Parts: sequence; C-alpha cells; structure tokens
Amino acid sequence: MLVHLDGQLVPTDQARVSPFDRGFVFGDGVYEGLRACRPPNSARRVIALHGHIQRMAQGLDLAGIPWDAQQLGPLTDQLLAANEITDAFVYWQVTRGTPDLSRGPVRVRVPAAAMTPTVFGYCTPLSPIDWANPAPATKRASLQPDLRWLRGTLKSISLLGNVLAAIDAHHQHQAEEALLVRDVAGRQVLTEGTYTNVMLVTADGTLVTPALPGRTPDSPFAPLLAGVTRRLLLHVAPRIVERPIDQHELAAAREVMLVGTTTMVTSVTHIDASPVADARPGPLARALMAALVGAIATGEDERLPG
Ligand SMILES: Cc1ncc(COP(=O)(O)O)c(C=O)c1O
Repeated sequence: MLVHLDGQLVPTDQARVSPFDRGFVFGDGVYEGLRACRPPNSARRVIALHGHIQRMAQGLDLAGIPWDAQQLGPLTDQLLAANEITDAFVYWQVTRGTPDLSRGPVRVRVPAAAMTPTVFGYCTPLSPIDWANPAPATKRASLQPDLRWLRGTLKSISLLGNVLAAIDAHHQHQAEEALLVRDVAGRQVLTEGTYTNVMLVTADGTLVTPALPGRTPDSPFAPLLAGVTRRLLLHVAPRIVERPIDQHELAAAREVMLVGTTTMVTSVTHIDASPVADARPGPLARALMAALVGAIATGEDERLPG
C-alpha cells in the first residue's frame, strides 16, 4: 500500500514521522474520514466531499493549523489512483507539525514558532455499496458515560475518550459501539457513538437525533460531532427531528440506528444485554439506508447546503 506523507506517496514501511511531531506527543491535530465509491453510471468519487472539506476547514481554523482543506479532493484522487482502488475508506490527518529541536524544549504547549503541518493519508478497500438492495448492517451497542472534552464538534486526533468508552463497551457487553450519555446539570442526555452519530425511533414513532449544542432553545450543552452522514440524512429525510434525547428514551425506542461515513445506517440490535424491539433492522432504518444510498446515487450528497 502507498500512503501519503507530506506531499509524497510512499510505501507504508518507508513512511517516517518525527517522534517529536506534536500529533504524536500531544494529539495536536485534526482528521477526516472519507468514503470513495463509484455510483451507477458515474466515475469514482468521494461521498459528500464538500461537507468533509467544510468540517475540516472549520476544525483547522479552530485549532490554528494552517492547511488548506480544499486539498482533500485532489490528494484523495491521487492516493486512490496510486493504490488502484475505487471503494475505499480514506483517512487524512493534519498535525501542527514538529518543533525546531534546536530552539529549546519540545514539550512547550504553546509552539515557539510557526511550524509546517504534517500531512498523512491512507486508504483501505471497502465492500462496494449495494446500489440495488441497500440494507442496514447490525451492531450491538452499550451505554457508556460520555466523559470526553467539551469541544466535540472539532474532529481531534486525540481520541482517548472515545477509545476508552469503546473498550469498556466491548469488555462489558461484547458491544461494537458505545452509546454515550452525558450528565448535563443532572440530566442524562444521549450525545453520539464513539465513531457514529445516533438516530432513534421513539415510542410514538418519531424519528429523532440529538440536537447539536445550542441548536434548539432547550439544548443542554452536550457536544457532539456534526457528522456529514447525519447532515446528509437530515437533508434528504426532513422528518428527522433534532432535539435533546434523554437516556430513558432509549429503553422505549422502537429502533436505534448508528450513522456515519463507513457505518452508513446500521441498526442497533442490543443495548447492553437488552434487545432493541425484535433485534432486527426496522422499517425506518431500511428507509433511511435506502434514502442515503439513493442520495449518493443521484449526487444529492454533492449539493449539501453550507
Ligand atoms: C465521534 C463521531 N461521531 C460521529 C461520526 C460520524 O461522522 P461522519 O458521518 O462525518 O462520518 C464520527 C466519524 O468518525 C465520529 O468520530
């Protein structure tokens, strides 16, 4: 496999980054995860590329890392062509870079001088999308406390909080994803998964997803990532209601779904030891999966509003 490192395509075993890179020692960087596919009758392309570019540009700006996220498109094309793959997950990370070692201590939090960001990208093959019969996959989930930092909209490479929640979910319940619940002023609100956003069908049949902080007047400050898949689903399935969701609503839910770039729409069969309804993908999961795949097939993902 060839990976991208600082403008070069190199075999994985020849890619070298300084151990003093701030991404390595501080987790000081941002990342994006893209999916490439070939929709029927069209060329290979990245799903909702513009949405990913926008989010990465905002993250880089917040972090003060000078890198032009518009490069994601051409660099991804180059990487996929070099590896001769069409259906792929493509990962990009941009760290603040490596400090000048001759200029003093390297663990200074505030960088002494402007640095050149380190840019790393790789791709791995994925199964092609089933355009004719899109069906939700299934996963088991476990409820875990959301103990992460409060800048959840920034796609930081510092993922220790997500990793520890995923490990606990796996060890306690053999779960493949954690459903994170944050205590906000005594209220237990659902935020997201460790690599997915969450949607559910409530007891009265309403399709809901946790609101982004500040998006509705009663939104508690419970940060979560503005997932590109979540945005695309809100765009193509306007009956999804964004509102705060209390943990107890999960127990009564008719369907619980994970949504994300590689996860697409995946039905949760169990939460901890309890089945969700009949532990199979429900009608709204199937409808959302069909809407998502349909939107990609018709290029609607490229028209996501800003
Ligand atoms: C914490 C978290 N939430 C949600 C998502 C889903 O976002 P997207 O749909 O952009 O892949 C991800 C993706 O990596 C994530 O890490």
